[in-house]
Amino acid sequence: MSSTIALILIGVAVLFILGIKFLSSPKTARLGNLVAAAGMLIGLMVLCKPAEAGGANIWTQGWTFNYTLIVIGTVVGLIIGALGAYSVKMTAMPQMVALFNGLGGGAAALVASLEFLKDAQPAPIAADALPHSVGAAITVPMLFATLIGSLSFAGSIIAYLKLEGKFEKPMTFPGQNILNGLILLVIVGLCGWLTFNATGHNAVAAFIVMFSLALFFGIAMVMPIGGADMPVVISLLNSFTGLAVAADGFAINNNAMIVAGTLVGSSGTLLTLLMCKAMNRPVTNVLFGAFGSSGSAQAGAAGVAGTVKPIQADEVALLLAYAQRVVVVPGYGMAVAQAQHSVRELTEELGKRGIEVQFAIHPVAGRMPGHMNVLLAEANVPYDQLIEMEHINPSMDRVDVCLVIGANDVVNPAAREEKTSPIYGMPIIDADHCKTVIVMKRSMAAGFAGIENHLFYKDNTRMLFGDAKNSLQALVAAVKAS
Ligand code: TAP
Repeated sequence: MSSTIALILIGVAVLFILGIKFLSSPKTARLGNLVAAAGMLIGLMVLCKPAEAGGANIWTQGWTFNYTLIVIGTVVGLIIGALGAYSVKMTAMPQMVALFNGLGGGAAALVASLEFLKDAQPAPIAADALPHSVGAAITVPMLFATLIGSLSFAGSIIAYLKLEGKFEKPMTFPGQNILNGLILLVIVGLCGWLTFNATGHNAVAAFIVMFSLALFFGIAMVMPIGGADMPVVISLLNSFTGLAVAADGFAINNNAMIVAGTLVGSSGTLLTLLMCKAMNRPVTNVLFGAFGSSGSAQAGAAGVAGTVKPIQADEVALLLAYAQRVVVVPGYGMAVAQAQHSVRELTEELGKRGIEVQFAIHPVAGRMPGHMNVLLAEANVPYDQLIEMEHINPSMDRVDVCLVIGANDVVNPAAREEKTSPIYGMPIIDADHCKTVIVMKRSMAAGFAGIENHLFYKDNTRMLFGDAKNSLQALVAAVKAS
């Protein structure tokens, strides 16, 4: 590789890093996407070179460095990506991320498989290609990329189907973890054997068995996990795809892939850990705990002190009229009801009356990272009104009215008060510290964790029952009329 190309690739790595940095704020996220995409395009262009004269066949560089194929692939990818991005509904975003991540993992696995099979292929196909003795320094990354990439592909497709609601409940059976452990052992054993026996018919056969088992393991790993835990799983699989791409980079000596893969792998891992921390659950509990399956949690008002006190929209409007500071706590129910535009309308009305309005954002409110930020940004709620949990909690006791819109677990004081609760230790938004709390939901049904919410029974809480969008529209009308 020439020093000019090496320098350009360092620039590409800087663009990837800047892209991820910009993605961390809604204000700069679009720019971040463009910067990272520009890096990817430059990386593609500098690494392309025409097929070598006379040497172009499937087992030589002709396939890898073929302009026409790269241009066709890029154009097809651009069309599918653009159509997908423009047509996807905001609520179906997690599915799209799962699907695209799966395709990335599958592509990484295919690149590594092609490289491995090219070198493992007995004569005559590879006779004039690379030497048959492939070093472990190349074989290990190839096997790693194949294993992790195919696992990520199969797991992401199951995650996609779960998010589509195809099989929402965790699918478990006795001895499942042991069976999965045994499959993993066989895969690792095959990889170990292939490291030292990377050529010949047996190597090809063992490789195909390993590849198939890795696909099966991806399915078996995700099937027992509940639909609502999929965002954590996708983030983990996303880091797997990144690591597979980085390993591909080592296998085919491509620095841009090493940098891009490592960035995706590390950011995916960090996001997974952050989400687990915000739910106060170890990753192992998400992967092997079948959270959300029958028996992992129970609902029931038994033992909860206090009574449920319903309220009507016009009474809430009256309370708001006397408020100076209002905090909105959005949750999964706001996404289900698609109530974000009505929320914005309400907060604008309150703003006109000189009432200070803020949104308290819990890191795992909803069903995907940044779910609430995305929805509220779509409804043009100003970014500076969105306050993160740790910043708003200390001042919650100075809030006159707290509007809890379709949120449940993220405001459940049991996380602070009940040592035996499945969500004990999960950081929550201290809605119960506000002077008056209005909870908007359809019924007394439990949230994701399946447990009773003590907030609904507190003296300062009133329940505005109904679909969040309908309740908010009634509330906007009542506020305008007041
Ligand atoms: P949840 O605890 O799931 O509660 C959502 C509430 O919304 C439900 O109690 C439901 O009550 C209500 N709801 C549903 N549809 C509604 C509608 N049309 N109108 C009004 N209300 C409606 O949500 P949350 O507080 O946002 O907590 C998120 C949960 O998901 C946490 O337990 C978190 O750990 C978990 N989780 C999150 C993530 C990420 S990354 N965000 C990942 C995995 C797990 P009704 O049925 O009575 O209306």
